[in-house]
Amino acid sequence: MRPVWDVTLSGMDIPVHRKIWEWAFIAATLERHHLITPGLRGLGFGVGKEPLVSLFASQGCLVTASDQSVEEAVTSGWTASNQFAGNVNRMNEHGLCDPELFDRLVNFRTVDMRNIPDDLRDFDFTWSSCAFEHLGTIEDGIGFIVNQTECLRPGGLAVHTTEFNVSSNAGTISSGPTVLFREKDLKLIAKKLKRRGNSVTMDFRLGTSEFDRHVDRPPWSGAHLRLEHEGYEVTSYAVVVRKGTRSK
Ligand SMILES: C[S@@+](CC[C@H](N)C(=O)[O-])C[C@H]1O[C@@H](n2cnc3c(N)ncnc32)[C@H](O)[C@@H]1O
Repeated sequence: MRPVWDVTLSGMDIPVHRKIWEWAFIAATLERHHLITPGLRGLGFGVGKEPLVSLFASQGCLVTASDQSVEEAVTSGWTASNQFAGNVNRMNEHGLCDPELFDRLVNFRTVDMRNIPDDLRDFDFTWSSCAFEHLGTIEDGIGFIVNQTECLRPGGLAVHTTEFNVSSNAGTISSGPTVLFREKDLKLIAKKLKRRGNSVTMDFRLGTSEFDRHVDRPPWSGAHLRLEHEGYEVTSYAVVVRKGTRSK
């Protein structure tokens, strides 16, 4: 994914940034489970212009990339944020995938994560980065994670990253353009998924390095793993779900 932050391929250090952590975590987790494999099918939600679509296609995966409609993205401000692609070719603008291979392996669907079409089924893996905190409420985000398991084949893997409120397990932002999941919300996700026969991995350790402990505030510094957002300290969190072979 280097061309995303280092267009001249100068070899500069990887920025210590939560966005890159999220993409790298998703790719590394899927890779560790041998899912970035030619012919396997992946479904991405709220993909925006992220490089994972072209990265997975470059490795031979059949990718269904999805995002909300252009009209909804305009209304909710995502087109203005330059994080919404709007057309599939912009998902390969860093040239991670051979264009002919990209055309053959990637298809785009308009999907509202709050209302997933029921023909999206039997994927080997699903993912989203920085998306399910933008659905309006904590409940909508939880609903998405539970419902998206329907898109996986038995034994398939889901990896979804989001905003984690590390400073409070009580007060939080529970509705609006960006919500912040507390430890108790993430544990509720795990409980609901396990009740349906899936396995979930959760790890609430915060890391102890200088970069993990630094809380970034405007004017932003180079270290951007944990930041202050509307009075709360937040960082990135990944939910990893293995669909049970007999899950409901
Ligand atoms: C912060 S951007 C992240 C984009 C990309 N995943 C990335 O990591 O760069 C949030 C994305 O979520 C999408 N999104 C917001 N609400 C959505 C919804 N209800 N259904 C589907 N996608 C949605 C936006 O269109 C946008 O692409």
